[in-house]
Amino acid sequence: MAKGPQQATGQDGKLQEKLRSSGEIPRHIAIIMDGNGRWAQKRGLPRISGHSEGVESVRDIVEACGQLDVDFLTLYAFSTENWKRPKDEVSLLMRLLLKALRDETDRLYKNNVRLRAIGDIAALPQEVQNELLDGIQKTKDNTGLTLVLALSYSGRWDITGAVRKIAGEIEAKRLTAAEITDTTVSSFLSTDGIPDPDLLVRTSGEFRISNFLLWQLAYSEIHITPKFWPDFRRPELYAAIEDYQQRERRFGMVSEQLGKKHGGDNYFHRLIKSVTGP
Ligand code: FPP
Repeated sequence: MAKGPQQATGQDGKLQEKLRSSGEIPRHIAIIMDGNGRWAQKRGLPRISGHSEGVESVRDIVEACGQLDVDFLTLYAFSTENWKRPKDEVSLLMRLLLKALRDETDRLYKNNVRLRAIGDIAALPQEVQNELLDGIQKTKDNTGLTLVLALSYSGRWDITGAVRKIAGEIEAKRLTAAEITDTTVSSFLSTDGIPDPDLLVRTSGEFRISNFLLWQLAYSEIHITPKFWPDFRRPELYAAIEDYQQRERRFGMVSEQLGKKHGGDNYFHRLIKSVTGP
């Protein structure tokens, strides 16, 4: 039997079944995990308790996404700007990340999750880099959910890197300016090979993209919840997916062109599939 996440049972299994039958499960979900500090503050706890509890949410959401056959889950775990936080908080966050990687890699492996990371990984403490690379190596042949951790990541960092690499290709005369298309740009981003997110979730009620996947979110549906990240567990994920299922994704076209009302597999559906992948 193929390895995979332990399937949901009981009431949770029924909820997942209902979600599957009510519409499409997004292929790629990206999440801005926000509100850990406020969650802790509300309880009179140190900020790091919010981050710790946030790891529990990560565990639950990764498991639920695996069970729902989501292909990619990208988590904004540490942004380029987060380095500017007080030194103590940065160092505690790095320790927490290290511990989570140590504790969770085996579970990820058993649940058929493939780990990947995007961002300036070389900027992370050496121990974190080693643990991360071990986890990526260990899970590289897994075929279920791909968990993408955005670490020391920002959208501008990603785009700047792509521009630099493209300029290098032009200098080396392997590419001409006229040959650059948006597919070229995508292929030089750190997310090369990963389809653009279908759904972006942001917790804690803020209406910002915060320098996340700036290029890749061009056509993503956005779901914003007032819940703080430590309170975001699978029921909140299911609500976000339900919200997504109500949206009509037009990719700049008009409703009639999609032929959705008639459920037809028309030219425009095929066109969209050719852009977004199967
Ligand atoms: C935002 O809350 C959260 C972060 C900057 C870090 C998220 C990290 C984790 C959940 C733990 C480690 C992650 C993994 C993948 C194991 P905030 O501190 O900005 O909250 P605030 O806006 O209320 O201050």
